[in-house]
Order: sequence, then C-alpha cells, then structure tokens
Amino acid sequence: MLSDRYKILIVDDNEGNIAVLSEILGQLKQCEITSAITGSVALKQILKQEFNLIILDIKLPDIDGYDLARILKSHKRTIDIPIIFCSAIFTAEEWIKKGFELGAIDYLVKPIKEEQLLNKINYYIRLHEKQTGLMRELMCTNKELEKQNRAKSEFLANMSHEIRTPMNGVLGMAQLLQLTELSDEQKDFVEIIITSGKSLLKIINDILDFSKLEDGKVKLEAIEFSIKELVKETITPFVVEAKKKNLQVLYNVREEISDSLIGDSYRLMLILNNLLSNALKFTHVGSIQLDVSLLSRQGSSLLLQFVVRDTGIGIPPNKVDVIFEKFTQADSSTTKNFGGTGLGLAISKSLAAIMDGTIRVESQENSGSSFILEIPFGISPEHQELN
Ligand SMILES: Nc1ncnc2c1ncn2[C@@H]1O[C@H](COP(=O)(O)OP(=O)(O)OP(=O)(O)O)[C@@H](O)[C@H]1O
Ligand SMILES: [Mg+2]
Repeated sequence: MLSDRYKILIVDDNEGNIAVLSEILGQLKQCEITSAITGSVALKQILKQEFNLIILDIKLPDIDGYDLARILKSHKRTIDIPIIFCSAIFTAEEWIKKGFELGAIDYLVKPIKEEQLLNKINYYIRLHEKQTGLMRELMCTNKELEKQNRAKSEFLANMSHEIRTPMNGVLGMAQLLQLTELSDEQKDFVEIIITSGKSLLKIINDILDFSKLEDGKVKLEAIEFSIKELVKETITPFVVEAKKKNLQVLYNVREEISDSLIGDSYRLMLILNNLLSNALKFTHVGSIQLDVSLLSRQGSSLLLQFVVRDTGIGIPPNKVDVIFEKFTQADSSTTKNFGGTGLGLAISKSLAAIMDGTIRVESQENSGSSFILEIPFGISPEHQELN
C-alpha cells in the first residue's frame, strides 16, 4: 500500500533528544513520528511496520547505530529505508565517513539546529511524494495494460473461434468435392483449396492456443500414457513427409524410462509436433532425430529430456533468444521461404512452462539445431517399483 504519511522512526537513548526532534518534526503535517530508545526496540518496530526514514543515534545501549544500520542494509525488506545518522561525535570526519560507508544518506550534528532539520526532512518528504506519485502512475498504467492485454487475448480467442467454424466447413466440402468426378485441372484447384485451407486452419489454431495460454485458461490434464506409443504416434506423420525431402528420421526412447507415465500427453505432443515440424521445415539434407532420456528421478516423479536434433540451416547466435517470442522468426525472409507465423516456439515455451518444464536451443548456423525440452512426469503407481 502506498501511504501519504511520511513515517519517521527516531532512535535515541536520550528521551530529551527524542522530545526535541519530535517537537520540531511535528511541525511537518505529513510526518508520523515513532521513537525507540534502544537498537533492539527499534528493530522490533521496523519489523512491525514500514518506515520512510530512520533518524539514528550512534551510541545506543545495546546494538549501536552502526550495527543497526548494518543489519538493516543486509535485509531485502529494509535495505532501501533511508538512514540519517544523528550524533554529537560528528565533529570527527571518520565518524561521518563510516556512516556514509554503511549506506546513510545524510547526517545531523547534535545539538540539532531546527531550521537545518526542517529543511532536510522537507526535502526528503518531497522526494518521497514524487516517488509515491510515480509508483501510483505506474500501477495504474500496469493495470490498464493488463486490461488491454486481456481484452486483446479475448478478442483473438473469439475471432479465431469464429473463423475456425466456417473454415472447417470449407475444408470438409472441398474434401467431399475431391471424391466426385473431376477433371485434372479441377483436381488441382481442389488440392490447392485444401492445402491453403489447412495452413490457414493451423494459423488460426495456433492463435487460439496462444491466446488461451496468455489468458491463463489452459488447464493441464494428468492422464496415464505410454511414452513409447506417444513418441511413435507423434513421429509417424513426419516419416512420410521427411521421405519426400529425402531426410532420415530417427527416434529413441531410453529403456530405463518407465513406459507408463502420468501427465498431459496431449500438450507434450503439441510441443514435440512444433519442434519436429520446425526441424523438418528448416532441414534440407541429413536427418531429424528425437531422443528421450531420463534426467533424474525424485520420488514418483521423472524428469525427462526430449532432444529434437536436426542437420538443418541452424540459427544465428543473436537470434537464439528471440525465436521463442511470439510472431518472431530468425530471418525476415522465413515466412516467404518456409511459411509460418512465428508462434510455434512461443506456444511450446508457454506450454513447457505451465508443465513446470523448460525449453532451450543449441544451434550452429548451417550445421543444425538441437531443441532441448525438459519436463517432469509422474509414474503410475503399478510401475513405480520398476524404476
Ligand atoms: N529447427 C530449426 N532450425 C532453424 N531455425 C529454426 C528451427 N526452429 C525454429 N527456427 C527459427 O525460429 C523461428 C520461430 O519458430 P516458430 O516455430 O516459433 O515459428 P515458425 O515455424 O516460423 O512458424 P509457425 O510455427 O507459427 O508455423 C523460425 O521462423 C525459424 O527462424
Ligand atoms: Mg514452427
């Protein structure tokens, strides 16, 4: 909560000094004064409430002022509270230097000069007011941005949904048309309708998936599945496609992995699909490969590593991070040459994150890329002994 009050803690073992300081500062209507006569009482106060400024005497009966400052500067919650040291010993330079070294922002020499104190504190109050104003503006802007982002995701989700329904109609009818008697030219036309329709549908589905992910609407499932079957099922369509490009497809699931896992197999398939379709798209000679291995086991949870390796065009080092951002491709000519919208990896990264996993890439331009996906899965109870 951002408060309009300026809360000052005065720490001094002399109650007379506290009274003098409180009386002077009492003239500033924004100030709320609290006092403590020992270092430990001050610490308790600081733990209980938030202060905007601490005026700290050096010689205290228990924890001295310097030690108290050291404690405050070593804790995340108190590191930024401004401290003004206040002492009669500041006639010696070394005491002042020590205070600044400990993170003090200012110092006061006793006996206190009223005007000097008021001027200083007034200045800090103005700074605080400016800071509070800026924080409030920032919070409002953030809220507004969040609202707009949600509205945008909702709009995208609705739009994609609305477009998908008639698109399925177009595709279905075109596929039926394919079954009727057609001339060779008509067959070519229908083929083009179907291919274009499918790629449009993929874009729409990607946008829909991504907006659901951004909206936090994706709920994970925990179902039992066979990892070997999932990998086989996922890779099979790619074998056919890879053959057309003369590419080899290899895959391997390490034997030590329990075959029966628990997790969201559908989302895992989506990620692997994205990675494999990239591998296929960006490779012209050589092979694409999927390896699944066990990284570690904790209780009934297995951390699996999926590596999708290709011998394709690779990714320039300066693009390795940005390709995981939405609508981002390594090269501006990618869409023209390979198609796609740059959503596949953004979706995969978000999906991996909600599955408590990670995804990264190691790549060398012109020699290939390895996308490394690590995700934990449960083991079904009957199979726990086997692992
Ligand atoms: N295996 C790969 N080899 C080389 N570059 C890759 C590979 N995978 C991804 N990239 C680069 O990362 C970019 C982003 O990939 P991403 O899958 O997000 O989008 P896309 O494949 O271009 O389009 P979409 O997946 O939405 O159809 C690609 O455009 C490409 O530049
Ligand atoms: Mg892709």
